[in-house]
Amino acid sequence: MNILENISLKPYNTFGIDATAKSFVTANSLSDLQEIISFEKDIFLLSGGSNMLLTKGIDKLVVLLNLKGITVEEFDNNHVLVTAEAGENWHDFVIWCISQNYGGLENLSLIPGNVGSSPIQNIGAYGVEIKDTFYQLEALEIATGKSHVFYNSDCNFGYRNSVFKNELKGLFIITKVTFKLTKKNHQINISYGAIQSELTNKENPSLKEISNAIIAIRESKLPDPKKIGNSGSFFKNPVIDVVEFKKLQKKYPDIPHYIVSESEVKIPAGWLIEQSGFKGKRFGDAGVHEKQALVLVNYNNATGQEIYKLAQQIQQTILQIFSIDLEIEVNVI
Ligand code: EPU
Repeated sequence: MNILENISLKPYNTFGIDATAKSFVTANSLSDLQEIISFEKDIFLLSGGSNMLLTKGIDKLVVLLNLKGITVEEFDNNHVLVTAEAGENWHDFVIWCISQNYGGLENLSLIPGNVGSSPIQNIGAYGVEIKDTFYQLEALEIATGKSHVFYNSDCNFGYRNSVFKNELKGLFIITKVTFKLTKKNHQINISYGAIQSELTNKENPSLKEISNAIIAIRESKLPDPKKIGNSGSFFKNPVIDVVEFKKLQKKYPDIPHYIVSESEVKIPAGWLIEQSGFKGKRFGDAGVHEKQALVLVNYNNATGQEIYKLAQQIQQTILQIFSIDLEIEVNVI
């Protein structure tokens, strides 16, 4: 294995932030990973780099997870278990599943990042989260170098959340993820309003048609990280008490919302940010996307500090106007 020194991480994070890794190594296999953690346990894991904001250089050994491969196993008459190694690109994996007519991931088309990171924040979009099809994952315990299997119930999946963001944070390296997908009788989910209006064949859409509809919606709203640096939703949609919500609704009768439970309501952070006047605003090279206010963008050479400062300014403003604490969704390093 080749350990490189003073490497710019700009090509490795979708925000396109130019931070430097003091040392950098690529792990192409499980045995590479085992070897790395046998001599260095204080590592910085890098996968698709699509959910991080680098505000400084990295002094630890940066390990790029580049494990590749997809395998399929029959489960029952209607299901297959599809396993992808951590370094597979998420969207390419989804498209491959669709090409095999395996159903369950089509609503998650075009989400940036790699398969190995998908369970960490239980990626979700358009009415579907990976917890709905997640079967199991394998992860290497950094302290012992041993592989462990985690089933769905072990992962404590929640909205943009899992055990790997909480009690097991930093302790494991996810090396492969298995999904239980349908071979036929697909359980499609096209309830999300925008999908309906994109679909040409509304009666019985194919997986491919659903995927294409999702791709069209995402492309119309979300910036392509290859063109404008970004990390998708920068904040989580806040969940507030129903009593607080009723007060807000009196003041803002059109406030969009989703009922979470009898006592809780989720508000789109994008709406709050837009109401606060930040949508489309630009401060140097750091900005708020013009079509989706939940997405912060790097127009070219913004530093991570500049983006973070903008995020804090947004948080303070939302707190002042709405008394709501916006929680940052990306990992700020
Ligand atoms: N809205 C605004 N202004 C904006 C953006 C949104 O008013 O600038 C309001 C609109 O009323 C809209 C509502 O917010 O109807 C919801 O917007 P959208 O459908 O775009 O979804 P979101 O709640 O803003 C979430 C996810 C996205 C995911 C979409 C679709 C989070 C933090 N974000 O966004 O995930 O693609 O739903 O399911 O839950 C990501 O995590 O990176 C991501 C893009």
